Amino acid sequence: MMSAPEMDVNNCKKNLYLIWVFVGIILCCSLFPGCYADANQPQTQSKKQMHPNAIQSSSVVFPLGGDVFPRGYYYTAMIIGNPPKAYFLDVDSGSDLTWVQCDAPCKNCQKAPHPPYKPNNNLVPCKDPACAAVFWPKPTPCKGDTRCEYEVTYADQGSSNGMLVRDVFGLKLTNGTTIASNLVFGCGFNQQVPKTHPPPFVDGVLGLGYGKSSIIQQLSDMRLTRKVLGHCLSGKGGGYLFFGDDLLPSGITWESFSSNTLENHYVVGQVDLLPLGGRGGANGLTVIFDSGSSYTYLNSQAYEATLKMINKDLEGKGFKLSPDDQTLPVCWKGPVDFRSPLDAKKYFKPLLFRFRKTKNKLDMPPEAYLITTPKLNVCLGILNGTEVELGDRNIVGDISMQNKMVIYDIEKNKIGWVNADCSKFLKS
Ligand SMILES: *[C@@H]1O[C@H](CO)[C@@H](O)[C@H](O)[C@H]1NC(C)=O
Ligand SMILES: *[C@@H]1O[C@H](CO)[C@@H](O)[C@H](O)[C@H]1NC(C)=O
Repeated sequence: MMSAPEMDVNNCKKNLYLIWVFVGIILCCSLFPGCYADANQPQTQSKKQMHPNAIQSSSVVFPLGGDVFPRGYYYTAMIIGNPPKAYFLDVDSGSDLTWVQCDAPCKNCQKAPHPPYKPNNNLVPCKDPACAAVFWPKPTPCKGDTRCEYEVTYADQGSSNGMLVRDVFGLKLTNGTTIASNLVFGCGFNQQVPKTHPPPFVDGVLGLGYGKSSIIQQLSDMRLTRKVLGHCLSGKGGGYLFFGDDLLPSGITWESFSSNTLENHYVVGQVDLLPLGGRGGANGLTVIFDSGSSYTYLNSQAYEATLKMINKDLEGKGFKLSPDDQTLPVCWKGPVDFRSPLDAKKYFKPLLFRFRKTKNKLDMPPEAYLITTPKLNVCLGILNGTEVELGDRNIVGDISMQNKMVIYDIEKNKIGWVNADCSKFLKS
């Protein structure tokens, strides 16, 4: 997760509470009925009950809440434990381990939508292969029957420290059946949040990387889904997340990602960033697809080139930098009030990432790199990665993945995308 700055959100906190209650009710209602109805039926599946080689072709779909601005993250409700309880988790394709705040007791828990998870004699011991998976390729720092304690640190300096537990996740398949899978995740009793921006208001993180500890890896080991997952982030907020590959539409553009198993990020290169039908911009980038990052980040050189290109294009159109608007580092006051990024379409050109080897394109209309603020300005949602110590790494964040289905096919080492209306929930 390379979560990005979220400034100026204080204005919105009052409304936020109501929105959360509302979204919470919708999410829970859409997930709980199936969960309760099926809980009494013998539908719980485990590896043992199925043919060992049978890959089940059903997918699992989760509705998402959240947005790029003002919240700065997308989250889903996971149903964990028995009795089942909902937890809101930040959807993060930039990390592997899933964790929830832990009542262990919690030394340093953050304000969250739900009470922390209570472990119930279900700690994963150090000798369990699941512990080795979290530390792989390094050896586990513990021994035998002692508990397996983890620590994950994110690029934005946030971190979670806790112990591994194993508990049941209620997963609703697209064919309507709810299955209960025993999955390993972190019970985080000591969370550090970056000081630069308020943390997402969630109970934990849903790690969607392809490392050995990720949930998609565990589900695939149980032969419940293929190692394919994806998300569709709506520009209007919300969207959906899915595991499995039986719902993929046609017309997907596929690009190979690095198969270096020591790299747990979805990395693609070499890419150029250009204006549609034009020249200029940035060349030879390597990009990471990271749904845990709200904005897109470029290294200093690429950022400067992109900013120059956009500024040049705005010349004579009545735009002025608006340094008093601190929403993001670069905001403009325009010739009209900007109420939605769609209002910027008339003034800003579409950009695109062009993949050198394949000539594939990932197009970014203005709403995929701009946000509008309460001051009715428009701000650049492409940020200077060097400033947040990302070094040479470039990140394609939520803002640039909006209104697209983005698919991570771990079995084929490919990442795919296709334009989609993400507000229309997948039909089962
Ligand atoms: C749905 O799919 C699962 C796994 O493939 C299967 O076990 C279950 O029987 C299916 N349910 C229905 C209602 O078809
Ligand atoms: C990006 O950030 C780095 C590190 O803070 C800084 O040196 C550089 O000038 C910034 N680039 C631009 C174009 O603002």
